Amino acid sequence: MPIDTRSSYGASPLAGLSSGGLAGAGASHPSMGLPGVLGESQGMREVFRTTRQVAPSRACVLIVGETGTGKELIARAIHDLSPRSTGPYIRVNCGALTESLLESELFGHVKGSFTGAVDNRTGRFEAAHTGSIFLDEINSTSPKLQVKLLRVLQEGEFERVGDNNTKKVDTRIVAATNRDLLDEIDSGRFREDLYYRLNVVPIYLPPLRERREDIEPLVLFFLKRYGEQNRREMRKVHPEAMRKLREHDWPGNVRELQNYVERSVILGTGPELLVEFLPPQLRGEAPPRPIRHRGGGADFPSLTVELVRQGIRAAGANANDLHDRIVGQVERELIQQVLQACDRVQIKAAARLGINRNTLHKKLSEYRIDENAPGGPARNGDGGEAGDAPSNPRADDPISDDE
Ligand SMILES: Nc1ncnc2c1ncn2[C@@H]1O[C@H](COP(=O)(O)OP(=O)(O)OP(=O)(O)O)[C@@H](O)[C@H]1O
Ligand SMILES: [Mg+2]
Repeated sequence: MPIDTRSSYGASPLAGLSSGGLAGAGASHPSMGLPGVLGESQGMREVFRTTRQVAPSRACVLIVGETGTGKELIARAIHDLSPRSTGPYIRVNCGALTESLLESELFGHVKGSFTGAVDNRTGRFEAAHTGSIFLDEINSTSPKLQVKLLRVLQEGEFERVGDNNTKKVDTRIVAATNRDLLDEIDSGRFREDLYYRLNVVPIYLPPLRERREDIEPLVLFFLKRYGEQNRREMRKVHPEAMRKLREHDWPGNVRELQNYVERSVILGTGPELLVEFLPPQLRGEAPPRPIRHRGGGADFPSLTVELVRQGIRAAGANANDLHDRIVGQVERELIQQVLQACDRVQIKAAARLGINRNTLHKKLSEYRIDENAPGGPARNGDGGEAGDAPSNPRADDPISDDE
């Protein structure tokens, strides 16, 4: 289901907010763009207007939007346009840490409060004193942390983990979510009181497919950026390529568009971005990926973000083997797929993977890939078709390890 929390925003969330001078923004028009944030559509103009209006206040802002729509850019702009811009801007990705690590990251801890707490540590809230703190993926926080966050929001107070002393902090809170928090409330994963406290001023970033007029300016903007970075003279976009770009549904939103333009600049030749430089799904040669509304874009970085997020969530709050669990699983899958593609010939697979044959051999037994392989056990050498030729006798020779 698409994210759309607009209906839950209520009328005029800015009513009653101070509209004092904009730090660093001069007397600019409220709907004027923000530095480095492009958008000419009605939806983006609304975003610019709300951002500029809310920035000078202390109000908490909740930024909502699918992956890659620019939530982080807006959070940063709010800080930069605020009177706090000379103070620190601290970003915490709440989805990247387990409950206890996140608690200590946010609030700090005192020496000895848990195994591994060898020193007193200042948390990110204290680090954000006089500035702003951006709580990204706020939807990933546990109920216990939500209680603690509510208190900071209401009273500006908290305790470090393992400490009885109450700390006070003066920071402006900006939060982001790529899930509809009302759905999260319904399913019991998010506290309603925290939602209303966070949602003082909501900013909704529309997905790119709902503001197609922004596509062309974004393409030209990134073409210039990556052209300069890579010293390429690609300045124009062929009309047919632009048509394909305009028609794509952009499940990964601006991040996906940015990646495709960068890729075209790097892989393409000549002064013009041609259809052939675009990835197959845009050229109509492969079925487009389904649109993922909930956090997972179809581009590789977004998929990685979502994969890791799901791995952390599935492991549970008490897991202490996240590295092995998540990285191990990805590595195992990579080796299996490459082995399959190399007809299960280890020497070929090792070359494709760019790792030493002995390393691959060790990993095969570590992950017990032979035993479970659908295509039979992996073969050591480059022996052609199974049974046709003897395996390369040198394939298993010890060679220098690359680890
Ligand atoms: N309107 C825009 N103008 C220019 N660049 C943009 C715009 N929106 C997004 N981008 C670029 O797209 C990329 C993704 O943006 P950002 O990280 O802010 O997305 P996000 O909404 O935080 O995504 P996620 O939910 O995956 O964290 C960044 O490189 C950002 O600079
Ligand atoms: Mg983000």
